[in-house]
Amino acid sequence: MITLSPPLHDCAPDIESFEAEALSGLSALEKTLPCKYFYDAYGSALFDRICDLPEYYPTRTETAIMQQNADEIAALIRSGSLLIEYGSGSSVKTRILLDRLPRLAGYVPMDISREHLQRTAARLAEAYPHLDVLPLCADYTAEFTLPAACRPVRSHVVYFPGSTIGNFHPDDARTFLTHIAEVCGPDGGLLIGVDLKKEAEVLNAAYNDAQGVTAAFNLNLLTRMNAELGADFDLTQFAHRAFYNTLAGRIEMHLMSLTSQIVRLGGAEIQFGEEESILTECSYKYSLADFAGLAESAGLQVRKVWTDTEQRFSVQYLTPKS
Ligand code: AVI
Repeated sequence: MITLSPPLHDCAPDIESFEAEALSGLSALEKTLPCKYFYDAYGSALFDRICDLPEYYPTRTETAIMQQNADEIAALIRSGSLLIEYGSGSSVKTRILLDRLPRLAGYVPMDISREHLQRTAARLAEAYPHLDVLPLCADYTAEFTLPAACRPVRSHVVYFPGSTIGNFHPDDARTFLTHIAEVCGPDGGLLIGVDLKKEAEVLNAAYNDAQGVTAAFNLNLLTRMNAELGADFDLTQFAHRAFYNTLAGRIEMHLMSLTSQIVRLGGAEIQFGEEESILTECSYKYSLADFAGLAESAGLQVRKVWTDTEQRFSVQYLTPKS
């Protein structure tokens, strides 16, 4: 059977940006790497596996919230809206919306992982033959142009599930939400998943799963730098480390050097001390009040919040303040 893939709009970061950002992060006093580089084809597949892990509560909790409130949520998205999903991955939760929104102007799944996006877009085009699927390969934190829809667009609705907003430092989250408010415009809205503060044990378990999938996801950053940037990281000499930093209100994921060593990357020599680590990801957890304050400072107003009974996770609908 031939599956026709919707044409891809490609604004993905190039290899030079990856190298420049990796070198800049690894030259800093406290070494860091941007978490967006987790998501090559293998990293995206690992992330899908993380979402199904027993310890990783966010995905199944958010999906249950979406399912339980699907009609109410879908009713907020008017016909003729262009639904734009930031970091669409496999677009699993999106189907809950798409099943209830037959009159969208189009759906723009946006992701940095090209092959994963193309596969997902092809599946969606097959499952929803009347939907205009407009895949956009882009780093949504950088500049991008929205693909043109065939049907008239009455409003823009941004869908940003998975609590990926938690992967931004709060100052960057504010800037990013301000940008989203501009994309939405006065008639649009933002449907967002936000993970909530909870007991450290639950959080620590979610990022240190027993099967080691999160560790493999973290270490894949080094594999990518070896394969794509010609670096010589010895994967046996780095270990995954993740913990909840209560004071900062965030999970921190690190890659810790198990020995003192030198790694070569793009003509540079990077020195690691024993137990020195690279901060690869922060995952901030919010209280409902803190997130409302953050959104407010970005020109957005929380209109509706749905949570699970244990208040582990929230799905929220926001609109630009008039
Ligand atoms: C994509 N993001 C919201 C995930 C998180 O929970 O911060 C990424 C992740 N990292 C480790 N596990 C999942």
